[in-house]
Parts: sequence; structure tokens; C-alpha cells
Amino acid sequence: MSQFDVVVIGAGPGGYVAAIRAAQLGFKTACIDAGVNKAGDAPALGGTCLNVGCIPSKALLQSSENYHAAQHDFAEHGIDVSVNAFDAKKMIARKDGIVTKLTSGIGFLFKKNKVESLFGKGSFVGKNGDLWQIEVDNNGTKQVIEAKHVIVATGSVPRPLPIAPVDNINILDNEGALNLNAVPARLGVIGSGVIGLEMGSVWKRLGSEVTILEAAPAFMAAADQQVAKEAFKIFTKEQGLKIELGVAIESVNNGKGGVTVKYAVNGEQRSEAFDKLIVAIGRVPNTAGLNAEAVGLEKDERGFIKVDDDCRTNLPNVWAIGDVVRGPMLAHKASEEGVIVAERIDGQLPHFDFNTVPWVIYTHPEIAWVGKTEEQLKAEGVAYKKGQSGFAANGRALGLGAAQGFVKILSAADSDRILGVHIIGPMASELIAEAVVSMEFSASAEDIGRIIHAHPTLSEVLHEAALAADKRALHG
Ligand code: FAD
Ligand code: NAI
Repeated sequence: MSQFDVVVIGAGPGGYVAAIRAAQLGFKTACIDAGVNKAGDAPALGGTCLNVGCIPSKALLQSSENYHAAQHDFAEHGIDVSVNAFDAKKMIARKDGIVTKLTSGIGFLFKKNKVESLFGKGSFVGKNGDLWQIEVDNNGTKQVIEAKHVIVATGSVPRPLPIAPVDNINILDNEGALNLNAVPARLGVIGSGVIGLEMGSVWKRLGSEVTILEAAPAFMAAADQQVAKEAFKIFTKEQGLKIELGVAIESVNNGKGGVTVKYAVNGEQRSEAFDKLIVAIGRVPNTAGLNAEAVGLEKDERGFIKVDDDCRTNLPNVWAIGDVVRGPMLAHKASEEGVIVAERIDGQLPHFDFNTVPWVIYTHPEIAWVGKTEEQLKAEGVAYKKGQSGFAANGRALGLGAAQGFVKILSAADSDRILGVHIIGPMASELIAEAVVSMEFSASAEDIGRIIHAHPTLSEVLHEAALAADKRALHG
């Protein structure tokens, strides 16, 4: 029977990174994964993120941005192109190519780092002395391996809406939404969360009439509300996304001609017919098939595997990371937990700060933040200063034709230490990195204000917001 120091179950961004780091630290490591490619005929490493999440969604976002720019933005640059057709199949094929490149790259990384890659469903069997026994089930061909340490990284799956069962023909989850081979004339989306906004944006830019139905009365409740208000205005008024808040979905009828959704909003009954409907109402931890109960692996009331701050479960030498445990469901959070667990197994004392996990929403303009929102600071009674600067007068943003939005820096009223940075604007996904570094190094807003930022760059807006926090903006 094969024995390992570390066995990782799941090869998403949490699991594959944990396996590589464990192997780098000299542990004999195996990683079990049951993921298959889009055709269903070969294993595919990389989990949700690489196969049906972060990477394919960003590929489609870019294709749709290019299409939209060619149609609407090139003319003002003096470029005369006539866009006659859009080939959704080609866009999907490009996306599939990127996915295949990256998922097969993980196999290469496993080989390079001497991680044994095992295809199949991993589940707990029991213990043999100090060693955990794990069964690997490859379509009925079973083997049991033993491990000193087990890292569970089985990720998450879409939260189902029982009245709208996904068939990935008319009613779609993230997988279906990323694989439409034609642009639906009328697209409905249930949930205005991150997937709803990103996928809604893709298909809207490609020509769909998009209606997003959101249960919550507030838009983007987790984001800073000033950013959320700006985003709502841009998405609805300028981009034409129809977003209904405070909606109660009453029935969903998946018929021959499409999907009819009946819902109530402010006590008023409404009905909308769509060609396709995306259901994106959050994700739930995936522990199915782990046989967790048999070994007494504890979960919380929402089904997440219970872990302490160090990602230790209630079982000795069993760890859990990523979407299957508490905290934001983000790839970089999962990966960082993977690194940290491998290093803890090695006896090191690595650090993880939930307060500096950045969020990015890849809409246009992009939205990114790190640290506290104004609403959180108010609720916690923390006295803060605020510095804000817009992209409207930034030379680089104007040159890019993307001068919407602003940067807001929140710093402590007494120490000026940065508490939160909120960006809506071009390349917010890249700009937020400076804010994360600053917060990790306990920088003050003044520190950013005194650092030289290249001209002309978008980062000058962050610089200007830092100066504004000290009431000495130069261009505001
Ligand atoms: P997963 O990526 O879900 O991987 C879990 C793996 O475990 C899978 O390969 C699964 O097959 C395998 N597995 C499960 N059970 C077993 C078992 N019993 N035996 C063997 N294998 C098993 N996050 C970002 O940070 N940025 C983004 O831009 C972003 N975009 C997203 C877009 C979409 C449409 C979606 C759906 C998600 C997006 N996310 C994004 C979230 C991100 O994908 C997840 O946070 C991330 O994939 C979680 O990583 P993980 O390793 O915990 O789990
Ligand atoms: P989400 O949690 O972001 O949003 C779900 C939305 O659906 C919420 O606004 C919620 O109020 C709403 N909702 C819930 N039940 C509803 C109902 N019955 N009717 C109408 N609305 C309802 O979840 P989403 O968009 O499914 O994404 C899942 C997760 O994937 C995200 O939370 C995020 O962690 C990750 N993700 C990250 C991305 C990124 O980092 N750019 C991109 C896409 C996903």
C-alpha cells in the first residue's frame, strides 16, 4: 500500500498549490482529483477556478470587451471598422484553449515537483495507527493509500435553487453560462453577485438583453456602498443592464420557448420570459463523497468543514482549505491557505491576514477592494479619514478611454494607518495590489502620498487619493 507524508484531496487552486508547496518542503506528496475536462473524457486538474470559474470567465470578459470596443469605441480613435458578425463558438473555443493550456500546466508542475497525481474520488476510510487511510476511486477501480497528513481541498459547488433546476440547456449554472454557443436574445440572471455581474456583463456586451433579479434590497452589500452606488448607476443607466432588487422569485417554468420567471417586487407581481436563465445565488461547500461522517470530520451548520485559524480540523493531522472552509470563496485565498498549511505541517509559523484578502469584480469598470468599507468602520465605531480621487482627470485613463470611477482610501484618524482601499475604475484588479502591499506593511496614507508614482499611470489616482486623505490633493 502506498504511503505518503501528505495527501491532498482536490486539485483546485487550494489543493494543487498545497501539494506543490508540501513537495517543495520535502514531503512525499500525492494529490487526488476527480475533475474531468469539458468533453468528460480526460482528467482535468485546476478545479473550479481553471475549468469553470476564474480563468474561463476572464477569457469571455475580454472577448466581449473587445467586441464592444470594436463596435462602440474604436470610431473615436479614428478607426473605421465595421463589425458584421460575432462568432460565439470561436470565442468559446478560444476560452477552451486557455483552460486546456492551464489545466495541463498543473500536470507539468506536479511532475516537476514530484507530486504524485492520482485521478479519482478521494474518501476517508479510517486509520491505521497514526496514518489516515484514503480510498481513491477511479470509476470503480479502487485503491487505498495512507497518509500522515491529509489536506481536504474539495472546493464548492453552485447553490441550487430548487424551483429552478439547472439543465445547462436553458437554465444554467456557471458551467453552462460559460459555454453558450450563441448569444441569447433575452438573458435572465438570478442573483446579482459576482457571477451574475460578470456573466451578465459578458452577454450584455455581446448583444443580449440582460435582466438580473436580486433578492437583497441593497446592491453589492459586501462592497463599500459608495462604490456600489457608482457601479449600479454605470451598469444600469450607461450599460443598460436591468437590475431588479428586493425580488422574490415565485416560479420558474422551463418550457419549449424558453424560461418564464414569475416574481414579486415591492408587492407587485411580475413575469419575464427569457431564452436562457443563469442561476448564480452563491456556492456551497463540497463535501459529498468524502465519507467525512464515518471518521467524525466536523462541519458547521452551513456545511463548511470546521477549522481553526490555522486550517486544522477537529481530527489530528487533517487540515482543510479553500472554498470548503469559512472565509471568502476566492482562488487566491484558497492558494494562500494551501501554502500556509504545508508550511505549518513543516513546523513553520506562516501568517495569513483575512483583512488583506483583496476582492476583484471584473466588470467594466472593474471593482476592487481590500480591508474595511466605510460602513464597517462606522459600525465598529472606528474614527477614520477619507481621501478620494477620480479617474476623470487622469491622463492615462483618458488616453485609455476609461476615465470612469474613483479610488477611495480610508485611514485611521489618529495614526493614518490604511484601513481600507476601494477602487472602481480601469485596471482596478491590478491597482489593488499596491493597496494590499501597503496594508501588509502597515503603511499610512501619507506613505503612499510620499511614494513616487510613474506618470502618466492609473496608479497616480491612488497617489492622489492618499494625498487627499491628508487634505493636500494636488489635482483635486
Ligand atoms: P475548487 O477550485 O472548487 O477545487 C476543488 C477540486 O476538488 C475540484 O477539482 C474537484 O473536482 C475536486 N474534488 C472534490 N471532491 C473530491 C473528492 N472527493 N475526491 C477528489 N477530488 C475531489 N475566484 C477568484 O479569486 N477570482 C475570480 O476571478 C473568480 N472567478 C470565478 C468565476 C466563477 C464563474 C466561479 C464559479 C468562481 C470564481 N472564483 C473566482 C472562485 C474560485 O473559483 C474558487 O474560490 C476556487 O476555485 C476555490 O478553490 P478550491 O481549491 O478551494 O476549490
Ligand atoms: P454571490 O454570493 O457573489 O452572490 C449571490 C447573490 O445571489 C447575492 O447577491 C444574493 O443576495 C443573491 N441571491 C441569493 N438567493 C437568491 C434568490 N433566491 N433570488 C435572488 N437572488 C438571490 O454568489 P455567486 O455570484 O454565485 O458567486 C459565488 C462565489 O464565487 C462568489 O461569492 C465569489 O466568492 C466567487 N466568485 C468570485 C469572482 C471574482 O473573484 N471575481 C467571480 C465569480 C465568482
